[in-house]
Amino acid sequence: MVLDDLSAIQAIERAAFSAPWPTNAYRTELETNKLAHYLVVRVGEEIAGFAGLWLMVDEAHVTTFAIAPAWRRNHLAERLLVALLDVALDRRATEATLEVRLSNLPARRLYEKFGFRPVGLRPRYYTDNNEDALIMTTEPLRSPEMVARLAARRAALEAAPDPVKLAVPGTDTVRGR
Ligand SMILES: CC(C)(COP(=O)(O)OP(=O)(O)OC[C@H]1O[C@@H](n2cnc3c(N)ncnc32)[C@H](O)[C@@H]1OP(=O)(O)O)[C@@H](O)C(=O)NCCC(=O)NCCS
Repeated sequence: MVLDDLSAIQAIERAAFSAPWPTNAYRTELETNKLAHYLVVRVGEEIAGFAGLWLMVDEAHVTTFAIAPAWRRNHLAERLLVALLDVALDRRATEATLEVRLSNLPARRLYEKFGFRPVGLRPRYYTDNNEDALIMTTEPLRSPEMVARLAARRAALEAAPDPVKLAVPGTDTVRGR
């Protein structure tokens, strides 16, 4: 993610979250937070989603994760999560952790697919509706289980159709599904 991406990021942020981060939050993250790493997923030229993490000592903490509504259910979140975990591994993180709304089943299923497991609750963590956060953490990223799981996800994505080819204008596109 770079500063030029921020207007597209804001549009996705507002569409994806009931309590979006304020406009300047991503700018501040990119400009000042040395612990932060933010990625975008593009389909052709279009930004279809983004994610971020903070590297705190040996832990990678996922701070945000969203796919634009028009691009969902095309396994773009999986591609993005593989890339994010690659950043974590590259920076020698030993595990990854995150908070997710208890009611957010799509996100929970996504994270479970990548080996995140519930380890606790943060009561009333989300101030817009006082919802609890579920804390989810991976097995050690270099454990045989996680290495095998990531390799399997990566192989499945490599074998899947290319989202760019699915989105040729004027054909039966995946957008807006
Ligand atoms: C959660 C989110 C990122 C998923 O993005 P996506 O690109 O549609 O997800 P993918 O197509 O890569 O799906 C991967 C897996 O996630 C799970 N999943 C995704 N959407 C789902 C849904 N609506 N219902 C159930 N499971 C779902 C499935 O396990 C899916 O694998 P499958 O297709 O083999 O069943 C997207 O719905 C989103 O941006 N939501 C709003 C923001 C948000 O909640 N972010 C997470 C904050 S912690």
